[in-house]
Amino acid sequence: MQRRHFLAALAAAPLYPLASRAMEDHGPHAGHAMPAAAPSRRPALPPTGQPLRELPQLQNQSTAAGEFRASLSAAAGRHALLPGGDTTLWTYNNGVPGPVLALSAGDKVAIAFDNRLAEATTMHWHGLPVPPEQDGGPGQEVAAGGRREYAYAIPADWGGTFWYHPHPHGHTARQAAMGLAGPIVIRPRADPLAHLPERLLFVTDQRFDRHNQVAAHTDADWMDGREGEVVLVNGQYRPVLEVGAGEAWRLQLVNACAARYLRLQLPGHPLTLVATDGGYLEKPLTGLAELLLAPGERAELVVTMRGEPGSSVMLQSLPYVRGKMMSAEQTVAVPLLTLRYRATTRVATPALPDRLARIEPLGAPAVTRRVEMSEVMRMSGGRHRVDFLLNGKTFEMGRVDFVGKVGQVEEWQLVNRSDMDHPFHLHGTRFQVVARDGRAEVLLAWRDTVNVRPNQTVTLRCRFDTPGERVFHCHVLEHEDQGMMGLLDVRA
Ligand code: C2O
Ligand code: CU
Ligand code: CU
Repeated sequence: MQRRHFLAALAAAPLYPLASRAMEDHGPHAGHAMPAAAPSRRPALPPTGQPLRELPQLQNQSTAAGEFRASLSAAAGRHALLPGGDTTLWTYNNGVPGPVLALSAGDKVAIAFDNRLAEATTMHWHGLPVPPEQDGGPGQEVAAGGRREYAYAIPADWGGTFWYHPHPHGHTARQAAMGLAGPIVIRPRADPLAHLPERLLFVTDQRFDRHNQVAAHTDADWMDGREGEVVLVNGQYRPVLEVGAGEAWRLQLVNACAARYLRLQLPGHPLTLVATDGGYLEKPLTGLAELLLAPGERAELVVTMRGEPGSSVMLQSLPYVRGKMMSAEQTVAVPLLTLRYRATTRVATPALPDRLARIEPLGAPAVTRRVEMSEVMRMSGGRHRVDFLLNGKTFEMGRVDFVGKVGQVEEWQLVNRSDMDHPFHLHGTRFQVVARDGRAEVLLAWRDTVNVRPNQTVTLRCRFDTPGERVFHCHVLEHEDQGMMGLLDVRA
């Protein structure tokens, strides 16, 4: 079935409650075609305007230099997020989001993990080059009530902002929606921006039902990826960060949403990109009007606070159309965080070094691969379904899709033949994007997640330094759960 016929069929027979779309929080003046639910039945919203909190750090129980030991547990608990009654969330160490795993380059890490959930889960260290058996990927489930230790070392030349989240096959989206996610920050050996004030901004989104509980996934969520209408920064709804005129702030952003794209903009404030998923760029990229962060991606921005003392400005996510099939596209900007200028007089803005890091380009590839993303529409049990596929296949545990070799440079062509954006993520290494639609990429940067637009081809290069099996997948968690994933076996 062709997409437009499929969409016509959907229009004729709605498959999910329209009310779930009507509650989208698009501000008081948003013109919306969907019927509105009675206001009294709308779920409550969290309070706004609270001072942005710094997320607590996971305590290092080791005193030995270069060693990090800690415990993390996943458990259900009740949290006072909304007025009028607690919300049951699943969290790491009771945190919404989980505590910051603050590491240094070269650290030996050991995390004792305790699964106090009523179902199996895993801990995945998104973006870290951990050994395959420590990766917490699909097939490495820790049973309900079970424990295990994760142990790995951070390479001496790494740094950047990463995150941890569950990855049990078929259940990742639901577990993330229940609240399981947390940040990882790796300090590089020499940090060229240590002199600037900084804040980690861990972005998640959430949808609640009228009983203040996490709403169940709808059919539309499974197709398009679930976007919660309540977008949270460090677990807070539209909080406030106080800044001083003239200061230069580092903002480390994590897009931990299942499917929401963040098209970041701070009106009147050009953005300087200093780091991508895998840490610093070689030099700051100045003068950006906006920055797109796909689900799973991270970036570090430096913003010169050039506004007037006493004024305010909103960090927001501009409308982004990504080819959704059953849910409304985003039509208005979503506020994330208010920056409020103190009344103090302007300070002199510190200069940025023009060299941040050195990135060695990965050389000519020894192997090339092609991954084609596609969508197939079908009827199943009287319901419309869409399968999102990689090279025409759905993920199967144990099926090897590619065989690689340790130390070899690989070139992957990601070809999106579907009508929706898909953020592609590869485990166990970092990569460099070398071309988009055949045009050479000028920005040399380390990434582990890259968005691929409909009909776009993205070419990346990577290399694996350890043998073992690695998955790659779409980071829209609902697509991943439904099998938009493949397996690479790296051999010694
Ligand atoms: Cu962030 Cu395979 O995941
Ligand atoms: Cu990952
Ligand atoms: Cu996808």
